[in-house]
Amino acid sequence: MSFLKLLIFHPILMLSAFTSTADGYYFYNIPECVYSTSDYSDMLLLWSFSFNKVVDLQYNSSVEKFVGYTEQGVKFAENANKDQALLQQLKAEVDRFCRHNAQNHDSSVRDKAVPPKITLKSVRQASGKIPAMLMCSAYDFYPKEIKVSWLRDGKLMTSEVTSTMELADGDWYYQIHSELEYTPKSGEQISCMVQHASSPKPIITHWDPSLLEPGRNKIAIGASGLVLGIIIAAAGLIYYKKKSAGRILVPN
Ligand SMILES: *[C@@H]1O[C@H](CO)[C@@H](O)[C@H](O)[C@H]1NC(C)=O
Repeated sequence: MSFLKLLIFHPILMLSAFTSTADGYYFYNIPECVYSTSDYSDMLLLWSFSFNKVVDLQYNSSVEKFVGYTEQGVKFAENANKDQALLQQLKAEVDRFCRHNAQNHDSSVRDKAVPPKITLKSVRQASGKIPAMLMCSAYDFYPKEIKVSWLRDGKLMTSEVTSTMELADGDWYYQIHSELEYTPKSGEQISCMVQHASSPKPIITHWDPSLLEPGRNKIAIGASGLVLGIIIAAAGLIYYKKKSAGRILVPN
């Protein structure tokens, strides 16, 4: 039986609907399915009945009964809780309505999930008392929900982490950036951990301090270029000098 049918056919709930709509007040009921596990084992059904902005009554599947919050609601709850058939139906709605819809919703989102492209780079190297700073960025992911955290030797780091909000790229994709300020210790491993619907396991990227090398390499390339330039210039100069000296030797 659907919620609507329950509402229409159930005398107690129907009564509440009728008494409150007569004068044009606002009566409404909201079924909510609350869960945080991917196997839906903690699925909770909350079905609230409200008049204007006040919740009178709520079915709570974890206690498998109605709870009244107002004088009127308490009376309704007392009556409704005597109705074993109704309570059984509602208990079944946890599977029929909540788990079923959650599955549909999750699979439609998960099918469309696009994994983030992750970059991990040094913003600032530690020097003296100034801590080092790393930035972990995740680009072009969907959906928006994402969690970026930092690990030191596999353990979650909490302090010195700043994170931006998920930023919309405007093309359905999102990006996010997280900065970590830390004092490097030798032998430790710093990692960026990204949790997203596109991957059942967290995506862990380890910080490789040798990635700082490209900066040093550039200096090395620049320096060797300079040395090479000087050698060529010197060779050219010597060649020119020899040639012009030779020219003088040639008699006219
Ligand atoms: C539902 O009932 C459980 C168990 O009593 C309680 O912990 C939870 O807070 C209730 N939920 C709401 C929204 O009232």
